[in-house]
Amino acid sequence: MHADVLRAINVQINSEFSAWYQYLAMAAFCEREKFTGAARWLKSQSAEEYQHGMKLFDFVNARNGAVELTRIEQPTREFESFGEVFEAALRQEEAVTGQINALYELCFKNKAFAEMTELQWFLTEQVEEEKTAREIVAKFRLVGDDPGSLLDLDRELGQRTQP
Ligand code: FEO
Repeated sequence: MHADVLRAINVQINSEFSAWYQYLAMAAFCEREKFTGAARWLKSQSAEEYQHGMKLFDFVNARNGAVELTRIEQPTREFESFGEVFEAALRQEEAVTGQINALYELCFKNKAFAEMTELQWFLTEQVEEEKTAREIVAKFRLVGDDPGSLLDLDRELGQRTQP
């Protein structure tokens, strides 16, 4: 593997595992506040992020590169509201999209064709992840502080089944 590309993919592995940990912290917050549907959604999302990290982990090994795991920062654990949890989730997904785009550009410049193919999955995934987060944020903004509507939204979020 190209050294710069390998280094950048290792950074992305850290980013995906950081997202895993951040979503888990968000789930813990919602669970503690008995917003259990949202907690379930966030735990599922957390598990997805772990899979993203492992997908790159396995890819680097398949390419005979060296996986370098680094420290995961402490996640944000307190939020002003349930809506703010998902606002933060959307900001996180937008940041990850930027990282994937930059990584893809680096691979392109270095003619790292196998890595570009692998990253295409992530480009597609980010479109979906951003879309989902944006839709949830829009609903939170719509319902505001109305308790009944928030409970309905929590119930809806709790219906998520995958992964
Ligand atoms: Fe792994 Fe939510 O991006």
